[in-house]
Amino acid sequence: MVPEDEGKYIMNTYGRQVGKTPYLVRGSGTRVYDDEGKEYLDFVGGLAVNALGHCHPAVVQAAKDQLDKLIHTSNLYYTEPQVELARSLVDNTGAAKAFFCNSGAEANEAAIKIARKYAKAKGNVERYEIITATDSFHGRTMATLTATGQEKFHKGYEPLLPGFRYGVFNDLESFLAQAGENTCAVMIEPVQGEGGVHVATQDFIHGLRRLCDEQGLLLIFDEVQCGLGRTGNLLAADYFGVQADIFTLAKALGGGLPIGAMLCTENVASTFSPGDHASTFGGNPVVCAAALAVLNEILKKDFLSEVERRGNYLREGLLALQGRFPGLVKDVRGLGLILGMELTGDGLAVQRNCAEAGLLINCIAGRILRFLPPLNVNQTDIDTALAILEEGLEK
Ligand SMILES: Cc1ncc(COP(=O)(O)O)c(C=O)c1O
Repeated sequence: MVPEDEGKYIMNTYGRQVGKTPYLVRGSGTRVYDDEGKEYLDFVGGLAVNALGHCHPAVVQAAKDQLDKLIHTSNLYYTEPQVELARSLVDNTGAAKAFFCNSGAEANEAAIKIARKYAKAKGNVERYEIITATDSFHGRTMATLTATGQEKFHKGYEPLLPGFRYGVFNDLESFLAQAGENTCAVMIEPVQGEGGVHVATQDFIHGLRRLCDEQGLLLIFDEVQCGLGRTGNLLAADYFGVQADIFTLAKALGGGLPIGAMLCTENVASTFSPGDHASTFGGNPVVCAAALAVLNEILKKDFLSEVERRGNYLREGLLALQGRFPGLVKDVRGLGLILGMELTGDGLAVQRNCAEAGLLINCIAGRILRFLPPLNVNQTDIDTALAILEEGLEK
């Protein structure tokens, strides 16, 4: 039994589903079930967290095994799962070292802090500004909120943190115009998620790398949403063939358990000394054991090429729906299995129609439908989702 006056106890901070919000009680693979036994095909995927679907057996087993051994220890000591996870991330990404925390915002906080400290350690005491992009999303803490280039998230929280400037996403000239003697870094999402599913252009990404190299700035990629296989590459950076100086991960990494990671080059990592940054729960052994299981699955042969193939299949289906509803569907975009469908009409109504018919999708800004299915979703599930979406659009 669940309480009926949930709003009395839970703070009202989430735009929950219009109409009756389901109480989800169980999940398996691509499906979740509510307290009345109704089944949903889950294309929200915990907002890019459930990359292997719900309760993936390898993740569950790894967490269970670790629960029996050691649940938590202070970061004053090493644990095997944490070191193994760091090793695997480093070996597979070209980074030199990892710092673990508990969420995407915290990973970005760590990136912002190390970028500022790096500039100061190099003797550039006035270099503290970070240029981020319009329509970006980097988190809800004061620093990451300020880094987020969307005014709607700033309102009511002023004064914001000093030291952030905004360039227009995919407009290199506007980033060049913002760069000055106080700049220490540029931070972007290679594929913007919350801002409406916008993919960076090759020219933009390579131009930012050049800008950073020429002006001695650090390039930070926020891969919290688009990293870890979502684009059909381990990192979105791999798709562009560019190495960032710092990048951040979270969401998919823990297979549903909370973890964030900030990774960087040796040069940057050596900026931090004991006491410079910390997190009580960061790198918790149970979560790291689960994360290692996630990473091992993603790194299996053909996993990433399959994500690309499935992403193309879903995108083709969405494009076909655009052809069928040209007045309603304005755009279909994205990369791999982070896809968006921009509507001219009420996206929340489509989201509701789909939920009633057993498909969970997410609607951003009232008119952009975002699809973040598990990376191991199969073709039959994609066909089912497309059929329900077609009905939802028709309605
Ligand atoms: C790109 C990006 N960065 C950072 C965050 C913040 O992550 P968290 O909610 O885990 O703090 C998000 C969350 O949606 C995100 O999409």
